[in-house]
Parts: sequence; C-alpha cells; structure tokens
Amino acid sequence: MILAIETSCDETCAAVMGLDGALRASVVASQSADHVAFGGVVPEIASRRHLELVDPTVRAALAEAGATLADVTRVAVTAGPGLIGALLVGVGYAKGLAWGRGLPLVAVDHLHGHVASLQLAEDPPAGPHLVLLASGGHTLLLDVDGPRIRTVARSQDDAAGEAFDKGARLLGLGYPGGPALAALAAGGDPQVHPFTTPLAGRDDLAFSFSGLKTALAMAVAADAAPPADLAAAYQEAIVRHLVERAALGLAATGRGTLGLVGGVAANARLRATLPGLPARVVAAPLALCGDNAAMIARAALELDPLEPAALLSLDAHARSPLG
Ligand code: KG4
Ligand code: ZN
Repeated sequence: MILAIETSCDETCAAVMGLDGALRASVVASQSADHVAFGGVVPEIASRRHLELVDPTVRAALAEAGATLADVTRVAVTAGPGLIGALLVGVGYAKGLAWGRGLPLVAVDHLHGHVASLQLAEDPPAGPHLVLLASGGHTLLLDVDGPRIRTVARSQDDAAGEAFDKGARLLGLGYPGGPALAALAAGGDPQVHPFTTPLAGRDDLAFSFSGLKTALAMAVAADAAPPADLAAAYQEAIVRHLVERAALGLAATGRGTLGLVGGVAANARLRATLPGLPARVVAAPLALCGDNAAMIARAALELDPLEPAALLSLDAHARSPLG
C-alpha cells in the first residue's frame, strides 16, 4: 500500500491507500490555531509545526488503516508548489523513510493532487474533463486527459481563496476567512449592494479578483451596507466569476464534464451554482476539498516512482509548471 505525506501549507497530512485506489486512512492535523493570531499562515511557524507533527500524523494514519510500516510498499510526497520550508519537512521525511526501508518514492505536484481528489468522488469523471481548481494559492482551469494536464486559464492576480481570505479580513472576520465569510453571507442579501463581476462581458480565459477586493474595501470604508449583505454580494460576485469562466473553458475545450476541486470547492454557494452549467459537474468530496494526503496518494497511483539514484536528490519547489 501507499503511504502519502502532504505538508505544503499549514496542514500536516498523511494517508494510506491500497494500490487498487481504496482509501484506508486520511489524517489531517490542522495548524490553524497556531496562525490565527497573525491573521494568516506564518511560514516559519508552519515549518516548525510540521516538524513536530509529521511523525505522529504518519503513525495515526497507519493506526487508522490497521497497518504498520511493514505493509507500506510505496511512499508518496508533495514536492511542490507551496511554502518551501513546509514542503521540505515532508520531502525530507519521505526521502528518509523510503531510503531507510528501500521503498520506491513518488514525487507529486500538489495541483495534480487536487485534480486527483475527483477520483475519490462517488461518481468520478470517466474520460477527459475540465477542472476548476480554486484554492488559497491558485485559481485554474485545467484540461485533464489521464495523466496529461494542460493549464487553460489562471488568475492574473489573487487566487479565489485569497479573495475570500482578504474579504474576510476587511469584514473583520477571523482566519481562515473562506468559511467565516460564507457563514456571514448566508444571512445576508446580495442585492443590497451588488458588486460588478470581474472581467464582465469579456471572453478572456483568465481570472481576476484584486479589483473586487478593492471594491469591497471601498464599500466597507463607506459603510455602504450591513456586513452580512456585503459578504453575500462579495461571495456572489466571486461565484459568478468562477462559473462564467468555467462556462467559457467548457466551450473552448469542448469537454462535457467539469470537476470542482480545492479549498474553495467546499463553498456551498459555488457547489449549488455550478450544476447550472451545460456539463456533468463532479465536485470533490467535501472532506477532500481542502489540503489532504488522500489526494496525493491517489495522484501517485498515476505516476512512476523516482529512479532509485534520484531519490536522495529530490528537492522541493515553491512553484508548479501547472500554476
Ligand atoms: O486547497 P486549500 O486547502 O489550500 C491551498 O492549496 O491553498 O485551500 C484553502 C482556501 C483558503 O483560502 C480558504 O479560505 C478557502 O480555501 N476555503 C473556502 C471555504 N473553505 C475553505 N472558501 C470559500 N468558502 C468555503 N466554505
Ligand atoms: Zn491545496
């Protein structure tokens, strides 16, 4: 079975999966509480916490799977993109484990991991499909054909999750901001002070969120509407933008299936709106939208392990060729 490790941001994750794709265990040790006082992830704190948490998290995943290290035949790890110090903790741990036990090591791109989370849905996409990946670090449309992934659209500025986080901050909500803003928006009216959809009326295959953030900052400063109404209108504009760009991507690629993945894929309003598109919509399971190692294990099934000679020279990288 595969043991997968993911430490790209502020969650220490380990998962155990059979080589047949059956998920045996997925453990996520969140560090949110360590970063909340700073209003965002502090990279140095994240690295240090990963160092403390990675071994207990791996042990917890093995215990949950009813397995021991002796059952592990392959190790997988996120090698990038992400916070470099955080990634290095997982990469170093995985290299040591694989080398020490003579196991093959698979290096996984975090974005490929999010894409692979769709394969753990109840009714996964069968053939080529378009994926809307919306997370704290990326907003992408990816054309997926087996292991081949091509970037169709990316953000010109902020990511969708970053827009949620910055919006939450402007509204005086806590971190992480996405769920907090969504909760406030649930009691608001998006029509009281509506925001213009980013790139409205244009057919660019690109995303943009920074103008929307500025519009919210100005509305908050002017006390233009109650916070719940502003949150609802802001969320609505983000969702409209994501859905419009997904529609353009479907038309441009001719794909009939749209996958929804990444932390923002947990947003209830987005999940409720996307099925209006002319495509079969598959969303990642709620528990696997945010960062986790189950998706890294699933992606590793589609990849070849590193050559044994390359194992010890595997390095982490902050950026992805897909992003
Ligand atoms: O995929 P993820 O866990 O980490 C990255 O790879 O970036 O995504 C985290 C992002 C954060 O910006 C968080 O605010 C956002 O996903 N998020 C949400 C919701 N839950 C998490 N955004 C909107 N609505 C949510 N319910
Ligand atoms: Zn992620």
